This record gives sequence, C-alpha cells and structure tokens, in this order.
Amino acid sequence: MYKIYVTRKIPDAGLNLLRDKGYEVDINGEDKVLDKDELINALKKKEYDAVLCLLTDKIDSEIFDATSNAKIFANYAVGYNNIDIEEARKRNIKISNTPGVLTDTVAEHTFALITAISRRIVEADKFTRSGKYVGWAPELFLGSDLKGKTIGIVGVGRIGSRVAHIAKNGYEMNVVYHDLTQNDTFEETLNAKFYNSLSEMLKVSDIVSIHVPLVESTKHLINKEMLEAMKQTAYLVNTSRGGVIDEKALVEILKNRDIKGVALDVFENEPELSNGLTELSNIIITPHIASATEETRSKMSEMAAKNIIAVIEGNTPPNEV
Ligand code: GLV
Ligand code: GLV
Repeated sequence: MYKIYVTRKIPDAGLNLLRDKGYEVDINGEDKVLDKDELINALKKKEYDAVLCLLTDKIDSEIFDATSNAKIFANYAVGYNNIDIEEARKRNIKISNTPGVLTDTVAEHTFALITAISRRIVEADKFTRSGKYVGWAPELFLGSDLKGKTIGIVGVGRIGSRVAHIAKNGYEMNVVYHDLTQNDTFEETLNAKFYNSLSEMLKVSDIVSIHVPLVESTKHLINKEMLEAMKQTAYLVNTSRGGVIDEKALVEILKNRDIKGVALDVFENEPELSNGLTELSNIIITPHIASATEETRSKMSEMAAKNIIAVIEGNTPPNEV
C-alpha cells in the first residue's frame, strides 16, 4: 500500500482523493508546524512514497535524507521558496505547487487590503468600537480615492495580472507595471505602461502592489532606496512573500511618514514581525491569509493530491515546478 505523509491537517477534499485511491494517509496529529527534528522523526517512521508539505515547512537535503522513498513533495501553496529545488532535482524528486486555483482569491484579498488602507477601515473600526464616535464630522477619517489613480504592479504573472484587471475594470485606475520582460498582451488589454526601471515606476504610482516570487534576485527588491522613490502619498501592498521588502527599512519609512501607508499579508520572518511594525497606525497587517477562502483552500488540497496521485501512478505531475 502506498503511504503518504501530510505535514499538517488541510481541508479534506484532497485527503479524500488520496484515501479513495487506497493510500495510507498519515497526518501530523497536532495542528502546528513541525520543527525540523519533529518532521524528520515523523518522516522516518514509515517508508513514505510521497509528502504533502506546506509553505511553513523548510524542505532541504536533511528532509530528503529522511525520506529516501519519497518521489514527490507536493507543496500546498503556489510559492515554493520553502523548498530546495536544486537538491530535489539532483535526487530526482518531483516538486509540485498549486498555481491558478488561488489567483482570484489572492487578488481579491489584495484589493481588500488596498481599499482598507486607502479608506482607513481598520483605524476607523477601532475608533468606532472604542466609543469615540460622537457624530458625523467633515474631516473624520479622510482617505484617498482610487478611481483615476495609478496602480504600479510589480510582477505581472497570474496574480499581478488579475489585480491589474480589477484595478482597471473595477476601479478605473491607470495601470503601470514592472517585470523582467515586457508583456504586449497585458499592455494592450489593460492599456498598461511598462517600466523597465522599478524606481521610475515607483515614482509615478499611487498604489504599489507586489506580485513576484521570492528568489535570490527579488530578495529586498523593495529596499530603502526604492521606498524613498515612492510618492509620499502612496500606499504599498504586499501579498507575495515578506522577504521581497526590507522590513526594517519599511518601518523607518513609515515612522517618518515618507509614504502614506502599507498593507502586508506576508512578513520577512513569519510569524515574527519586525520591531515597531505593530506600533504604527498607517499600516494594516493580516496573517498570511490571502488565499484563505473555503473554496480555494479545498481546491489547493485537491490539486496537491492530484500531483501525488500522478507521480504514484507513473505520470508527470500536472503542476511540476
Ligand atoms: C501562499 O502564500 C502561497 O504561496 O500559496
Ligand atoms: C502566481 O500564481 C502568479 O503567477 O502570480
């Protein structure tokens, strides 16, 4: 019987697909991230044929050593910066992710953050709850409009493109973008303007939204210099990976009010937050939930399971990275 290890409880949809195949499915019994030793011990208990892992699991050579039988690590995420891909290739272990199914969901959360920060929803909610609301006032919680403003998208993959589409067609914003390559279809569809230089794009953007994967070349892509290039009236939103922004530099910029506000769903050293981050009022933080809807998390579960089934049945995983 094939044996699958799941590093933490996920929605049942995918687990049921695995069980329906007659596989033995073992799940980490505690609803928490296993540390390295715990994960190694769990993986050594049986000769697992496949592992379904999460973005919170660091998968490297030591983990691969503990699972000499595993032919695939199916990551329950679209991002896979948690996995040593080169090491997996050397060992002929397949790696898969969950692209596509979470695109709309992450884009919608991105817009939830954009509207929340530009209309000061969280501050206003706290104010109202705490009994401070004593009546309508002409200058109470003035925010910023989105219509007619310019959104700067960093990385126009699936998610960045979807955010641009909502901005253009829903809010009538102008779209500018920066990416490694120019994308003609994207430009034509959204009347978008390409900036080869990130700092030049930042100079003209009222909202900046980050949608690049975390790789060597994107680590601290948004550093002090780039933050300084932004307009003082601009907002920055990040639903990609925390490491793309230099979080320390960001705290300083926010303290000095050199940009207007920030909304973050991801952090440089999750779950830790940089010193001073939570003390600022011009920031909204959510705990890495951009893909967290019932529908999407179930689809991600099915997708991860289907990649495992493909490999066990001798086929190429549909979402191999
Ligand atoms: C979430 O952050 C993902 O990569 O799916
Ligand atoms: C990830 O899904 C992306 O391409 O943005």
